[in-house]
Amino acid sequence: TPSPACKWPETLEFTYEISPVFIVMEEILLKKMHEIIGWAETEADGIFSPGGSISNLYSVLVARYKRFPEIKTKGMAALPNIALFVSEHSHYSIKKAAAVLGIGTDNVIAVKCDERGKMIPSELEGSILKVKSQGKVPFYVSATAGTTVYGAFDPLPSIADICEKYNLWMHVDAAWGSGLLLSRRHSHKLNGIERANSVTWNPHKLMGVPLQCSAFLIREKGLLQACNQLCAEYLFQPDKQYDTIYDTGDKAIQCGRHVDVFKLWLMWRAKGTRGFEMVINEFLELTEYLYKELKAREGFELVFDAEPELTNVCFWYIPPSLQHFPNGPERRKRLHQVAPKIKARMIEEGTTMVSYQPHGDHVNFFRMVFSNPATKKSDVNFLLEEIERLGKDL
Ligand SMILES: Cc1ncc(COP(=O)(O)O)c(C=O)c1O
Repeated sequence: TPSPACKWPETLEFTYEISPVFIVMEEILLKKMHEIIGWAETEADGIFSPGGSISNLYSVLVARYKRFPEIKTKGMAALPNIALFVSEHSHYSIKKAAAVLGIGTDNVIAVKCDERGKMIPSELEGSILKVKSQGKVPFYVSATAGTTVYGAFDPLPSIADICEKYNLWMHVDAAWGSGLLLSRRHSHKLNGIERANSVTWNPHKLMGVPLQCSAFLIREKGLLQACNQLCAEYLFQPDKQYDTIYDTGDKAIQCGRHVDVFKLWLMWRAKGTRGFEMVINEFLELTEYLYKELKAREGFELVFDAEPELTNVCFWYIPPSLQHFPNGPERRKRLHQVAPKIKARMIEEGTTMVSYQPHGDHVNFFRMVFSNPATKKSDVNFLLEEIERLGKDL
């Protein structure tokens, strides 16, 4: 039996000498992910980070450094008033990154989306022109490939055209949707990702890798290093006996770094790309099953009636008391309370859980996502029946 003082062996990942095998694994998988994105012509660069939020933060950090290298030494006082663009359905982490990096959340412009939750390119262009006319300097756009709530894919080729036209860094936050790149049936939904300057890819989401495992991938080799390196002499001595290009730790904003790549490497070796593809295709089939069940069953209403593109399905349960209730503020008020009450009952009874939220003008609705390979059609049926059972008296 290990004594309480016995520490589970674990290494850090800042220099090659301390974790040579893991550094090489990271290089290999970053290269593989680059190829899958379609950046095969460039040398792979990037880093594993503690989550999609941190990968997104890296994207803003490095895009700002590319445009304004003086930021590293002089700080924000040396910069004009800069602005960046996201869609109104984007993940909140980009806004948080702007707060952390001293850009300010007021300078994060939320671009309008269509009903399906996709960024509208003409709205993006309009917002860029408006911001310029206010004297601000646009530098970055984050498109989302797989939005958190609707599972929507922004139109990447049109966004790439606009980024090129206005010389803006194009980031694709594919934290949630990147797994689809491994599916020959579904990867077309990310067409245009190869035109991005950087990508966030979270294997700890659709690929089922245990937390934490997120990759920040960047097309321009060396930029991440230039942006973040401080060459601490006690770690990154230039006169080591090996090629110090493998001392990748100075690319990170951390010092010691958790080894996140190992479990992904093991899973990729064990399952192969085709193994990931099979599981991801099954998620999409379950999603379609739920979508069709919702359309067929009385008492359920979809938030938007379009075939799901990812594994998100957004819907309301309409209890009998509201099924013939006239549309208006009173019905909205009552419907808003339905999902939280059903969820509270689910938790009290300990039977199942599903998330809910309001979004834009929509009152609280359920959002089901599939990312557990153990889920079966019978679980989907159970979920719907449980919602009905717990909500029919509301
Ligand atoms: C689109 C998107 N980006 C970023 C994130 C943040 O990822 P993480 O939870 O790994 O920080 C999420 C999380 O749900 C997400 O859906």
